[in-house]
Amino acid sequence: MLQSPKDEVSALLRARQTGHSLPAGLYTRPEAYEADLDVIFHRHWIAVAVEADVPEEGDVYGVDIGRSSIVILRDDAGTVRAFHNVCSHRGAKLVDAGHSTIGKLVCPYHQWIYELDGELIEAPHMGKDFRYDLHHLRPVNMRSIGGILYVCLADEAPSDIETLAEIMAPRLAPYDLANTKVAYESELVEEGNWKLTMENNRECYHCASNHPELCVSFIDLDFGFDPDQLSDEDREEAATHGKMYEERTNAWERDGYPSRAIEHTVGKETNFRTQRLIIAGAGESQTPDALAASKKLLGTMTRKDTGDIHLWGNNSWNHVMADHAVIFTIFPLSADQTLVRTKWLVHKDAVESVDYDLEHLTSVWKATNAQDAALVARAHAGAHSVGYRPGPYSKFTEGALDDFSTWYVERMNAHGY
Ligand code: FES
Ligand code: FE
Repeated sequence: MLQSPKDEVSALLRARQTGHSLPAGLYTRPEAYEADLDVIFHRHWIAVAVEADVPEEGDVYGVDIGRSSIVILRDDAGTVRAFHNVCSHRGAKLVDAGHSTIGKLVCPYHQWIYELDGELIEAPHMGKDFRYDLHHLRPVNMRSIGGILYVCLADEAPSDIETLAEIMAPRLAPYDLANTKVAYESELVEEGNWKLTMENNRECYHCASNHPELCVSFIDLDFGFDPDQLSDEDREEAATHGKMYEERTNAWERDGYPSRAIEHTVGKETNFRTQRLIIAGAGESQTPDALAASKKLLGTMTRKDTGDIHLWGNNSWNHVMADHAVIFTIFPLSADQTLVRTKWLVHKDAVESVDYDLEHLTSVWKATNAQDAALVARAHAGAHSVGYRPGPYSKFTEGALDDFSTWYVERMNAHGY
């Protein structure tokens, strides 16, 4: 008997072995892509933008998520809102993806007009009894967490976004990301499945041999692995690394900067990890010389030696440093392609070529993104090969991938796959 697409995905999920990468079909099959959109991208919280994408009243930002689309805007009262990017008349997409500035939202098809708070105010030829109040734009669940915008397209959104908000509020407050500007944005289409993009981001096993630019400033995270599972050599390295993190974390926390690693992954609806990371070398920022890229520090920051607040999410990763932040969001385009969107944020009053040099600000992650894209394409090509078998994750350096893959399978199961 032929399997339904849902049964096929369920069978692949059942075949997943803990401690190993996923069965090939979960990376390559169109059915799995559709299921991922349905469950992860439509029913969970995903990071989509930053408040700085809509700095002024009337600024609009269209974001496509799979085949769905949302419109984020700042209304006339300065409130940031999100709506489904779908006209209430016959469903036309209201705005194209990307940035624009408008007075009212006007549907290009038959000119229905909406206020920026979503209220329908004009619907020509609909008759005198037409109920405008039943046809306002449909809001999308949205939360700004320290200036990073998360949405959930489903009406019922996972409630543990509150945990993320509570933990991140004090961590991000001094950086005031809501009052930054997007100094530069890049879009890169990786030739690989979105889960390979996420897995690649969740380990730095590959960094030393692939990221010479990043390694000037990057020191790997302090993972909470079980020392008994490590080889003698790895245990020694882990102990040195752990001691360095313990000392630095204690010092930061004594100075009032929350820094400790917090993981919220397996068994949770919203997947995240945060920790204040040590910056290597000159110790200030992820630049070619590890020195701050912008003279104007973010928010109320006065020190440059406060490391890098890293935050991983369901579809994102972020690095927030004293002088700038780099915000990454990813969107699956097909089973075989993933859009990686990167935004470099600086203080909103920082002036290019006066306060920062764009090349100095962006070159490390531009190079790193290109290198990662090549690695993801290589991994994805392998997953398509008949010779592919799920391989073992390192207990030392790839525990976070195991957590991510386990979380993914759990979330799919929880939604009937
Ligand atoms: Fe928008 Fe008709 S579909 S006005
Ligand atoms: Fe990488």
